[in-house]
Order: sequence, then structure tokens, then C-alpha cells
Amino acid sequence: MTGKRTELRPFGPEAIAEATALIRDGLPVAVPTETVYGLAADATNAEAVARIYKAKGRPSFNPLIVHVPDLDAARRLGRLGAAAEALAGAYWPGPLTLVVPLAENSPVASLVTAGLPTIALRVPAHPAMRALLQASGRPLAAPSANASGRISPTRAAHVLASLDGRIPLVIDGGATAHGLESTIIAATDGPLRLLRPGPIVVPDATAVTGNAVEAPGMLASHYAPAKPLRLDAVSAEADEWWIGFGAQGGDSSLSRSGDLVEAAARLFDLLHEADASSRPRIAVAPVPSEGLGLAINDRLARAAAPRG
Ligand code: TXA
Ligand code: MG
Repeated sequence: MTGKRTELRPFGPEAIAEATALIRDGLPVAVPTETVYGLAADATNAEAVARIYKAKGRPSFNPLIVHVPDLDAARRLGRLGAAAEALAGAYWPGPLTLVVPLAENSPVASLVTAGLPTIALRVPAHPAMRALLQASGRPLAAPSANASGRISPTRAAHVLASLDGRIPLVIDGGATAHGLESTIIAATDGPLRLLRPGPIVVPDATAVTGNAVEAPGMLASHYAPAKPLRLDAVSAEADEWWIGFGAQGGDSSLSRSGDLVEAAARLFDLLHEADASSRPRIAVAPVPSEGLGLAINDRLARAAAPRG
């Protein structure tokens, strides 16, 4: 979208209709929530989610929050246990995000959860985000609508200040009520864990640091393949599963045409596929370090780093 015009429309039926068409076309749209403005895209469309990262210019992939209209929709994407159900009943719709195990056959793209077996879910209260969820009929992945390194936007003007020309539309709903991102609580196994403090204070959630171990062998925020991974591979050994890019490789390819949006969209699926293959090692072709390639290479470098 770089260089194109960004439209600013007041929240109303026309803005929602236009935003819905853009979401269905796989493009990200800025929309107010009760916490901060979000940059929303169809969570079931991997390339749409890759375009969120492209617009933000973020040099790494983080798992994103998926917004849904109600508890039933949340249950289709994640497995809510008793504790999560109780919190959802008490605080949804509202500024609370619950991290729960991913549902079997979840339609959400692996780029949204950054390959993790868990998913962050939230039922927002703001009428604009609610209207877009209803009209589009899609779960919406949405990080804060700011360029990488800038503070979270609480007004449409803040969104334009960093994303003008990089996204097609900003829905203007005035200043947000909370001005602070949602509280995030992990309700997976064992006690509730506070992953990010926010507007809702849950007394029985224990604060943890971002890198706390979620479960044996699984870090809080990063999926890593179990097999050794070699970077910048312009050829592959017989015992390596080769993930290609452009003209190079492989057993699979991030993008045969060298398209970074497609490569980002396929990254976690291909890492899982390589991990599940019969070969004991993984090699990945070079990916250019520009635009989305920065985030792809950040993720690959972490996947290749030795770990204990
Ligand atoms: O208020 C909000 O939550 C805003 C509005 C737009 O809804 N959204 C937001 O999203 O703040 P974002 O992408 O900036 O923050 C997502 C946070 C990250 O810190 C990420 O690590 C965490 O949620 N997260 C997402 N999925 C996770 C998972 N499966 N496990 C652990 N943490 C997760
Ligand atoms: Mg943010």
C-alpha cells in the first residue's frame, strides 16, 4: 500500500461496508476498539495477516490477538476451560484477552499464532469493531494500529501519523475509552498467568515475565522447530529438508516467485511441515533482508539458534 492514499471515514454504515469489502479482499483496516485502535485483517487469510506486518514495518513476528463477536465464536477457535469460561463470562465484551489452547481444526492462519499451539482471543466492546466483526463474518487479527516502534494509537490522527499511505482505510471513532491495551491472561494448564497488565485486574492471576516457560518444551511466545536448522542454504544435503525461496530450492518453497507477503504467510506452516518430515535436519534458502524479509529472517534466526 505504500504511497497510496489512506481514506479516513467516520464510523457509520458506509465506513463499515467499505471496511468489510477491504477485509474480504485480504487487506488490513484500522478500526477503533475500547482500548486502542487496531489494524484488523481476516485471521483466516495468511496473506492478509502478512500485510498487517508489512504495513507496520515490524521486523519480527509476534502472535496476534484474534477478535471475535461473542463467546460461541471464541469456542470455535480456542479450547476454553472452566477458568477461561468464568473470566469470559465476567469480562466479555471488554478489554480482556485470554490465551487458551488452539481448537482442533481451527481456521486461523498459523502466522496469527506464530506457529504456537495456543491462541489469544478477545471479544471487544467497541461498536465499530463489533460492527466490523458482524458485517465481515470473519475473526479479525488486530495488533495496535501503529508503525513499529511508535506508541499505540488512541485517536484516528495517531494512526495516520504513522500509517498514512500504508493502509487503505482508517475508521474514525474518536478517542478510545481506555487508551491502554487489553489485559492478557493465559488460561492453559495450571494457574492463571498474567501475561500483560491492562484495564482489567484479575486478582487470582499470577504475574509472569514474557519469556516464562508456558509448558515443557514450549516458550511463551515462540514456536521453534525441534530439528537443527541451517540458514542461507543455496543447496541441501541428503539428510536435510530444504525450504526454498525464489529460484532456490527446495522440498517446499516459501514463495517460488520471491514474494515476501506469500513467504511470510507460509513460514510457520512450512517450518511445521519440515519438522514433521522424515529428514533429521532443515535447511532454508536465503531470504532478502528488506521489508517483510526482516521479520522472516528474525524468526528464522531464532529457529536456528541453539537451545538447551
Ligand atoms: O487492546 C488490545 O489488546 C489491542 C487491541 C487492538 O485489541 N491489541 C493488541 O495487540 O494490543 P498486540 O498484537 O499489540 O498484542 C498482542 C500481545 C502480544 O504481547 C503477544 O505476545 C500476546 O498478545 N500474545 C498473542 N498470542 C499469544 C499466545 N498464543 N501466547 C502468548 N502471548 C500471546
Ligand atoms: Mg502494540
